[in-house]
Amino acid sequence: MNEQTIIDRHRFIKVAGSVVGAGALACVSPGLLTTRRQKVVFAKLSCGAGGNVGERILVAYASRAGSTGEVAETIGRVMCDKGLEVDVCLAKDVTDLSPYRAIVVGSAIYMGKWMRDAATFVEKRREVLSQIPIAYFTVCLTMKDDTEENRRTVTAYLDPVREQAPEVQPMAVGLFAGRLDSRKLPFLYRMIAKAIGEAEADYRDWEAIRTWAGELVPLLGGA
Ligand SMILES: Cc1cc2nc3c(=O)[nH]c(=O)nc-3n(C[C@H](O)[C@H](O)[C@H](O)COP(=O)(O)O)c2cc1C
Repeated sequence: MNEQTIIDRHRFIKVAGSVVGAGALACVSPGLLTTRRQKVVFAKLSCGAGGNVGERILVAYASRAGSTGEVAETIGRVMCDKGLEVDVCLAKDVTDLSPYRAIVVGSAIYMGKWMRDAATFVEKRREVLSQIPIAYFTVCLTMKDDTEENRRTVTAYLDPVREQAPEVQPMAVGLFAGRLDSRKLPFLYRMIAKAIGEAEADYRDWEAIRTWAGELVPLLGGA
């Protein structure tokens, strides 16, 4: 495999470290310094009859540049199309789990980890999550090459979440390629992305995401 295509935790962390150093700052192009961050609109969706307690499915996610939200929305739409009652929203906006009989939690990966909002969501609600059907999904650039080795790497990104909440046993774990869009990233993240030299592109495989969501429905106790 080409060295350039291998994006793993160590590479991101190593580059992040050198970017934070003053020397790297000097190498940043003026364009990168002056371009303003584009507004990120985080996906939100609700379908189905309404507040039937214990009947709905929640797809909660954490995202920085929005691409994971669109993955979550696509998963939610597949479930809506199958007649389920679904809410899709940012994990940090969830206040009450009582309407839900099953929950899907997903996160973008930054520096080899799930984002804090998603990890905290699982950790804080682990008691409830251990009693209902759960699925996890992860969105990152390593999955743009869907190899056994990359699957192992990305599966390991979830280790801290599993260790924090071992009683939460997901019925399924989706591993998806994401999108790199520097315009939507905060300055420091933009610099890291630039230093990594990864192409700005949308690697999301919508067919694979829809297929996974469709297969999830019976696992989560749906039709
Ligand atoms: C600063 C930075 C660090 C990243 N770290 C990783 C990483 O460690 N492993 C990985 O596979 N992808 C990594 N990515 C890629 C993101 O996971 C990918 O772009 C994802 O789609 C972003 O999701 P979001 O748009 O929902 O924030 C990184 C991206 C950036 C900009």
